[in-house]
Amino acid sequence: MSDMQREILQLGNPKLRQIARPIENPTHPNIQSLIDDLIRTMEQSNGVGIAAPQVGVDLQLVIVASRPTLRYPHAPQMAPMAMINPRFMPIGEEKVKDWEGCLSVPGIRGLVPRLNAISVEYQDRNGQPQQGAFQDFVARIIQHECDHLQGYIFVDRVETTRELITENEYHKRLVP
Ligand code: NI
Repeated sequence: MSDMQREILQLGNPKLRQIARPIENPTHPNIQSLIDDLIRTMEQSNGVGIAAPQVGVDLQLVIVASRPTLRYPHAPQMAPMAMINPRFMPIGEEKVKDWEGCLSVPGIRGLVPRLNAISVEYQDRNGQPQQGAFQDFVARIIQHECDHLQGYIFVDRVETTRELITENEYHKRLVP
């Protein structure tokens, strides 16, 4: 198992704006190492998700790792899950606005509308096709990470720049 922490690119780096390419061979050792590195990098940064473009790799790979947080105390605790070549479809039309942050945008939170429920097709790290339905916080993480594969960052998704706030203000709202 690789255990290298990689540098997380920050907003302004053009590599965050690239369109990621499909992964043809998920079981290749380089991909397996990348998955392990992404998980380690995410965990060291206390994140709940990360996408390969955030470490400068333009491949369609995201890690999703929900856990309970202050804002989502009932979020499921899950082992970090690699989603390779993910595609999601809406389940229903309901959209929900909630606060997001991003390891590539330190110190900033934004209120982002996302589909409340989605169906996702992807390959797991063994290259096996998978399909799953997700809602609430996990669905939000997946949509945020899939955005990274298209060169989008959550600040592109806010309805108004007035719904961008600093991390300090965010925590004041969490614990009034
Ligand atoms: Ni992000």
